[in-house]
Amino acid sequence: MENPFYITGIVPEPYFCDREKETAWMVRTLENRAHILLTSPRRMGKTQLIRHVFEQPAIRDKYYTFYTDIYPTTSLHEFVLFLSKEIYSVLVPKGKAALGKFLAGLHSLAGCLGYDPVKGTPTFDIKLGDIHSPELTLEEIFNYLETADKPCIFAIDEFQQIAYYPEKNVEATLRSHIQKMNNCLFIYAGSNRHILENMFNSAAKPFYNSAEEIYLDSIAKDVYTRFIEEQFEKAGRRIASEAASVAYDLFEGHTYYVHNVLHNAFAYLNDGSTIEKSDIEKTLSDILEEKGHSFASVMNQLNYQQKETIIAIAKEGKAVGVTSIAFVKKHALKSPSSVQYAISTLLDKQLLTYHNEGRAKVYRLADRFMEKWICQTY
Ligand SMILES: Nc1ncnc2c1ncn2[C@@H]1O[C@H](COP(=O)(O)OP(=O)(O)O)[C@@H](O)[C@H]1O
Ligand SMILES: [Mg+2]
Repeated sequence: MENPFYITGIVPEPYFCDREKETAWMVRTLENRAHILLTSPRRMGKTQLIRHVFEQPAIRDKYYTFYTDIYPTTSLHEFVLFLSKEIYSVLVPKGKAALGKFLAGLHSLAGCLGYDPVKGTPTFDIKLGDIHSPELTLEEIFNYLETADKPCIFAIDEFQQIAYYPEKNVEATLRSHIQKMNNCLFIYAGSNRHILENMFNSAAKPFYNSAEEIYLDSIAKDVYTRFIEEQFEKAGRRIASEAASVAYDLFEGHTYYVHNVLHNAFAYLNDGSTIEKSDIEKTLSDILEEKGHSFASVMNQLNYQQKETIIAIAKEGKAVGVTSIAFVKKHALKSPSSVQYAISTLLDKQLLTYHNEGRAKVYRLADRFMEKWICQTY
């Protein structure tokens, strides 16, 4: 029996939950020829949503759709490599003419493109060291997108990475290319709202006001729990309504975490009995036990101030006013400035995230399992 709760790879359509409004909005926005900035906490479902949007007939039948996740990249060289690799892999199945057009335009890499004599097709085995002039290659890539035989949509996931590239003026260079393009729309996605909002909402920045913004929140509880119960039913199994509700509430509907618990509950509790609330709790505690070792080693690498700060924030769940005297006192921390300093490191290490609620900054742990583990361990 296939597990309907996918926690890796692309979620196949029958197992994709909701996102109807967001999907419709994105399709409409793309059809109106606007670029999109898609943000959400990590693991809320941005990547899945983009894949889902690409599968909509209005998009699938009209555009070449590209998707790359640039999280691992730290230079323009890699950025260029990731984009061209993705274009290559999308075009290979489209046939020789489509692919040939792309490769013929890559003059700066011409010497590095191979040829498979058996299949009679070009091969793409570019190494980072082959890219001598990333700016030039970038221009060629954008040139291709501009002149492709179909309109294009390019989704660049974890787009905030470009802010860390050492090359000068990356944002300005990209923006000036994109501004001139008529044939390609971009979906910029990412979980680092802080950096992305700064890129798109500050008047002094190149990407200012250049995309329609959408923030992805949790799926509504009634929709999500109905989906959960239906998935069990379709598999000839049963989950108590209360159990589905508890799974949702444990993580306030944060998709990956809810899905992970249900995935395990589905996989390990298959003796035909109904899944109850206690089964969900047991499944969670098994997950925390299994992940405990790696959380412990993360904690091990933090200094004392960072540790007491992350523990305080985990216990709050959503922590507001973290540098106030009240917060420092409540959690017996050293001082507001030590908390401030610890937080900036914890943000850099991506252990914390934050968003604004009105004027207030709300901090919380990036990993909801780690949050629960810290609460039970300290
Ligand atoms: N609409 C959805 N339907 C089913 N599962 C989903 C959905 N959105 C997210 N998920 C689950 O959450 C996980 C994380 O989603 P992902 O799109 O990778 O998040 P993000 O890109 O925001 O970090 C997926 O692997 C899947 O288990
Ligand atoms: Mg993603």
